[in-house]
Amino acid sequence: MCSLDYLRAKADGRKLSMVTCYDYTFARLLSKSAIDGILVGDSAAMVMHGHPSTLTATVELMRLHTDAVARGASGKFIVADMPFLSYRKGPAAALDGASVLMAAGAQALKVEGVDGHEDVIERMVQSGIPVMGHLGLQPQSVHLYGGFRVQGRSGEAARDIARQAIALQDLGAFAIVLECVPAALAEEITGSLRIPTIGIGAGSGCDGQILVLQDLLGLNVDFRPKFARPFLKGSNCVLDTLARFDEAVKAGTYPAGEESYS
Ligand code: KIV
Repeated sequence: MCSLDYLRAKADGRKLSMVTCYDYTFARLLSKSAIDGILVGDSAAMVMHGHPSTLTATVELMRLHTDAVARGASGKFIVADMPFLSYRKGPAAALDGASVLMAAGAQALKVEGVDGHEDVIERMVQSGIPVMGHLGLQPQSVHLYGGFRVQGRSGEAARDIARQAIALQDLGAFAIVLECVPAALAEEITGSLRIPTIGIGAGSGCDGQILVLQDLLGLNVDFRPKFARPFLKGSNCVLDTLARFDEAVKAGTYPAGEESYS
C-alpha cells in the first residue's frame, strides 16, 4: 500500500482499514495482518504515556514511536502524526519536524485542520510528503471545544467542515480522517470528495475506518467512547492470564522442569 493505493481504493469502492500502533511488538503482529495502514498517532501521549490529551506529544516522542513501528511493520503503509503546534510555525519549521518523522520510517504525515496552515500543507506535498488531513473533532484543539465533543452538529459547523475537506483535497491531501461527526455529514463529505475519508466515530458512510488499537482490542478499562467497539475482551484476557501466572508462581507449578535449564 501507498498513498496512491488509497485513491485507487476509493475509485474502486474498496473500503480501507487502519489502526493506530505505537510499538514494535504490535507492529510485528500488524505486519502479518490485512490492515491497510498504520497510524502512529499522537494519541500515543494518552494511550502509551497516560496524559489527558495529545498536546504533550512532541516531534521527538513521535520519532521514537514511529521508529519502533517502522522496524516492526516494514511492509506496511505507515502514517505518523505531526504533533501539536509542530506545523503552525511556518513551512520551514514544519519541514524540519516532518523530515525527522519521514526519516524515522513514516511514509505519510497527518495534520489536523487546514485553516491557517494551508502554506505548510502545500509545501509538504510539494516536497514529496503525502499528507493526510484530520477534520471534525481535532484532538489538538480539545481546549477550544472544552472537551472531546462531537463536531459539526449545527448547519454552520457542518458546512465549515465540508468546506475544509474540499480545501484539503485542493491542497493535495491524499485522504482525510473524519473524527466524531454525525454519520450523515461524514457520508455527504465522502460523496463530495475524490480522496478517501477514514472515519472514527463518523458512521459507516466513510471510505474506511480507523480505531485506536488498544480500543479495538478492549484493553482500555477506563475509557470507551460509543464508536469504539471492542473486537476482543482484551483486558479480561490479560487479567485472567496474569491471575494464572500469579497462581502458578505461588503454587510452585511454574516453572516446570521442561521450562528450566539443566
Ligand atoms: O492520534 C490518533 O490516534 C488519531 C486517531 C484518533 C485518528 O488521530
